[in-house]
Amino acid sequence: PQDDRIERIASTIRVIPNFPKPGIIFQDITTMLLDPKAFKDTIDLFVERYSEKGISVVAGIEARGFIFGPPIALAIGAKFVPLRKPGKLPGEVISEEYSLEYGTDKMEMHVGAVEAGERAVIIDDLIATGGTLCAAIKLLERVEAEVVECACVIELPELKGRERLGGKPLFVLIKSA
Ligand code: PRP
Repeated sequence: PQDDRIERIASTIRVIPNFPKPGIIFQDITTMLLDPKAFKDTIDLFVERYSEKGISVVAGIEARGFIFGPPIALAIGAKFVPLRKPGKLPGEVISEEYSLEYGTDKMEMHVGAVEAGERAVIIDDLIATGGTLCAAIKLLERVEAEVVECACVIELPELKGRERLGGKPLFVLIKSA
């Protein structure tokens, strides 16, 4: 039986057609953040899943992984590591290129933020094509961390992003058309 909290959380996410481009149906989590119970329930569901699992790293993907990652990290006693767009992190970085609908983008992580053998979960608001999470997994695996799971609030299953994660487990609260 699905947790009662999930339906309520889903009802707080606003759907905006044709943003940022015609044809894209944007899943806007900012309306969930306006509802403290829905926001807390969302964090709690992840915390319940990742507590007591020996996770020492919560890696959050810019931008909305920076909203959900830190409260989860604090609650489970893990460090928070930001995975950022290029040129934003001031220290020495490793970077991973990934493809977008048109062109490519890059994601960066600070060298020294994560040590070999650490157990990590990667957090973002949404998985669409899976390219973003795939690059995040590669960054963590390059420093020999163990990516235990990827976690998102929302999955768009039609885009089959899950299949791009090379068998890495993906946990989502809400699947959306
Ligand atoms: C969205 C979303 C994920 C990514 C998923 O970010 O927050 O990070 O797209 O897409 P994918 O599975 O197809 O790779 P967006 O591109 O809107 O960037 P932003 O978070 O900086 O606004």
